Amino acid sequence: MTAPQPAAQPTASYGTGHTPVVELRGIRKAFGDLLANDDIDLRLRRGEVHALLGENGAGKSTLMRGLYGLVRPDAGQVLVDGRPVSITSPKDAIAAGIGMVTQHFALVAPMTVTENVMLSSVGLGPLDLAAARRQVKDAAARIGVAIDPDARVEALSIGEQQRVEILKALVHDCRVLLLDEPTAVLVPQDVDALFTTLRRLTEQGLAVLFTSHKLHEVSAICDRVTVLRRGRVVTTRDVDGAQARELAELMVGRPVTGVARDAVLGFETDEAPAARRDVDVPAKTVLRVRGLTVAGTASQGRRALFDVKLHVDAGEVLGVAGVSGNGQRELVDVLTGMREPVAGSVEVDGVDLTGAGPQRLMDAGVGRIPEDRHASVVPDLSVEDNLVMEHLDEFRRGPFVDRRKVRAHANRLIEEYAIKAGPTDTVGSLSGGNMQKVLLARVLDREPRLVIVAQPTRGLDVGATEYVQRQLLRQRERGAGVLLVSEDLDELLALSDRLVVLSEGRVAGELPVQEATPERLGLLMAGGTIEEVTA
Ligand SMILES: Nc1ncnc2c1ncn2[C@@H]1O[C@H](COP(=O)(O)OP(=O)(O)O)[C@@H](O)[C@H]1O
Ligand SMILES: [Mg+2]
Repeated sequence: MTAPQPAAQPTASYGTGHTPVVELRGIRKAFGDLLANDDIDLRLRRGEVHALLGENGAGKSTLMRGLYGLVRPDAGQVLVDGRPVSITSPKDAIAAGIGMVTQHFALVAPMTVTENVMLSSVGLGPLDLAAARRQVKDAAARIGVAIDPDARVEALSIGEQQRVEILKALVHDCRVLLLDEPTAVLVPQDVDALFTTLRRLTEQGLAVLFTSHKLHEVSAICDRVTVLRRGRVVTTRDVDGAQARELAELMVGRPVTGVARDAVLGFETDEAPAARRDVDVPAKTVLRVRGLTVAGTASQGRRALFDVKLHVDAGEVLGVAGVSGNGQRELVDVLTGMREPVAGSVEVDGVDLTGAGPQRLMDAGVGRIPEDRHASVVPDLSVEDNLVMEHLDEFRRGPFVDRRKVRAHANRLIEEYAIKAGPTDTVGSLSGGNMQKVLLARVLDREPRLVIVAQPTRGLDVGATEYVQRQLLRQRERGAGVLLVSEDLDELLALSDRLVVLSEGRVAGELPVQEATPERLGLLMAGGTIEEVTA
């Protein structure tokens, strides 16, 4: 009897040196001035789980959507089994054996699992239901999931819906499965089930490419990882043996230890704000949050925020870091009265304001500069009307609005905040920077005790960014507390005195800015614990 030759085993041929099942060469995609994908090369091997790791905005979805024909790259080539293919629509991708589960499921809620799965292949035409059910069952068995082919999609959990999406891809005979942030919407148990499914698929020779910003997922399931940063490939490597720290650093960028805050803002002028901690205000707590828990939407799992504890002192900027969608929005919503928590408490200046609405919070001295500036102004109204609309009562004389008083108020703020517009210009006609200045003026002129601000410089040019950041530091100098939510680490490090990191709705850790390096923050953002980070 001869011993079995290793080379005869099918899996042994899926190694290096063989033609990749999919190869991307020089993929480039710009959105206006922004290069979302910059000359990207990527090779997918049969039987591997390949992670596309990167921070929010790194270009992961764009690359994947390009490969699936949902986005048209400006340049580059796609090869399937070594042969160039042209993919200009999902139909082309499916024909080439590429399937994709997008971030937002495309299921028809009132229809059954079988109907949904078959919809993409046979459309709304006549359906051999018995055959279709069998096909769905077979596909489910292939990946080891139990799913009732007759269940209505609307009755399924998010995890189950995701399985239906995977089945949809599998009935098309796909050989490469693309999953965009598949775990973002899942609870931990469903994540485990998904990983088991992916393993089953790769054992059958499929290649899986999935995007993630969570290091622990990458090390748990992936064979290889490609790290993207600002649209470029930083590296492709085996996951085996890769240090989480190393990957975090690759993901977030330069290995900076000290933080040149002032250099970021360019504070060499005599306008420079007082050095941190020299601020002469008693360290009174203006915001105290305990046990804050907020229910999640269906796509978030049970809770959007869980047991969050934090505080902001007067004269302090507390930065809130985190990958988008980890509870930041819900935190801001609760603190500005737009949403009620299911548990926990919110105290402002020692007064319990749990569950208070926007007006009460505003009256209590909370100023809010929310993420969506377009939704915070009325674009069709003038600059002057937008500046007074939250406090119109103060501009009334009898039943009428005192237009002269409104105009004078507007002129003063236009001057003080260097808004490049006239009082009667509609806010909708302003640039992003000037619109943000209108918002800042409206909120900050009232000298709030606590400023809640989210993504204050997103989309602004350098000049406007610096202006906005200075204004926020000014609030801190006059003794207000500032809670700053931002996805821009440089901004957080430049402005914050302390930072908390939100991960999956919880406070993953807290660091004084002196100890907060991008690497440490990146680790916490990616699901690490404070013990791991400060070890
Ligand atoms: N349709 C679009 N129009 C304009 N900009 C876009 C579009 N899609 C993505 N972008 C931008 O391209 C960059 C990369 O986005 P994306 O691929 O979604 O990143 P990721 O999936 O890694 O978070 C981001 O700056 C994003 O704002
Ligand atoms: Mg994405």
